[in-house]
Amino acid sequence: MERTPVPSPYSLNRKVLLGVSGGIAAFKAALLVRELVKAGAEVQVVMTRSAHDFVTPLTLATLSKRPVLTDLFVQDGSGRWNDHVHLARWADVMVVAPATANTLAKLAHGQCDNLLVACYLSATCPVFVAPAMDLEMWRDASTRANLDLLRSRGVRTIGPEQGELASGLVGEGRMTEPVDILAAVHAGLVGASKLSGKRILISAGPTQEAMDPVRYIGNRSSGKMGFALAEEAALRGAHVELVAGPVSLQLDRPGVNRTNVISAAEMAKACKTLAPACDALIMSAAVADFRPVNAAAQKVKKGKGPVELQLEPTEDILATLSATRKPGQRVVGFALETNNELEHATAKLQRKNLDLLVLNSLREAGAGFGVDTNKVTLLAPGTDPAELPLMSKQEVARAILDRLETLL
Ligand code: CTP
Repeated sequence: MERTPVPSPYSLNRKVLLGVSGGIAAFKAALLVRELVKAGAEVQVVMTRSAHDFVTPLTLATLSKRPVLTDLFVQDGSGRWNDHVHLARWADVMVVAPATANTLAKLAHGQCDNLLVACYLSATCPVFVAPAMDLEMWRDASTRANLDLLRSRGVRTIGPEQGELASGLVGEGRMTEPVDILAAVHAGLVGASKLSGKRILISAGPTQEAMDPVRYIGNRSSGKMGFALAEEAALRGAHVELVAGPVSLQLDRPGVNRTNVISAAEMAKACKTLAPACDALIMSAAVADFRPVNAAAQKVKKGKGPVELQLEPTEDILATLSATRKPGQRVVGFALETNNELEHATAKLQRKNLDLLVLNSLREAGAGFGVDTNKVTLLAPGTDPAELPLMSKQEVARAILDRLETLL
């Protein structure tokens, strides 16, 4: 009999660098990896040598679906080494669980004698530690001072909890349960978002304008950028109204209400209905600018001569919504340009009276239709354009929403 897996109560599509140090609670790292993976995270485990005595790398590698890393220098005579700088830059968040008294001391004092602590020193992302140790070690003045130092530098602590300890003593020192560590990381990363509780309208994908019942005029948009925005906004606790043109993408996430449309006119109608209740509007759809004047009711038969197709402009949804916005509502537009990008985009920002404009250039490698990456420049009134590097569409979505948060 097939069983449906129990879904995670949290959703965390982040790259997690999980540091596992050597204490008895390391056996729970296996459950933490499972919780993180179930929540949608990519997990790279870095463990200390002594953690190997408590949980096997094979267990953590199997659950995380990635080889576990331990040594700065691979001891097989090959000269290979594990690049802590690259690992730290890869991570969206670093979690050290369990964090033993020894590892906390190393972190606090900038020691760098194993891969885990070297990654910490190189990390610029948020860092969480879940201490686990015996009662007296936890109470010791040096542990307290080390934690104070780490907290003063922005490291966030999770637990420890009261309870039965491996020594048989009862008191504070138990590592927080894996699902609660996940909850704390989730709350720390996305729970404090200004988008939490906000209603966001996002348009995505292409539109199709019928010529007859069989043919249409369309464009190459895949909808990936808009769907990444919808996913990220929902992750940050927003209620998302996603108005999607014809795309093959799925987005099954609580907090996202999807309306499917085909044509620019249908998209305009749906957006105009939903916009008044929203706090922000993000129009990422590639809406057709023209449609056939009269779509034929029957399939047009091929003739001998050339066929003439008369086109008329569609409504500019973004311009309409911006002009009729309610007070305080933020409006974000996109611009796809092929030449004089900044000049055209700046004009669009002003003409459509936008709070933020995301400029894509088709000339940039890795940007544009169908690909999973994008390279954009963010334009806002009164500020210099911010050119972002080539990133995944998820990362671009994050950057756009980070910027939107500053506007809300
Ligand atoms: N847009 C819209 N409705 C349309 C056309 C475009 O809402 N009928 C929105 C898109 O969703 C995007 C922005 O307008 O957010 C920019 O679209 P783009 O085609 O780059 O610009 P246009 O305003 O159509 O200007 P131009 O054709 O001159 O480039």
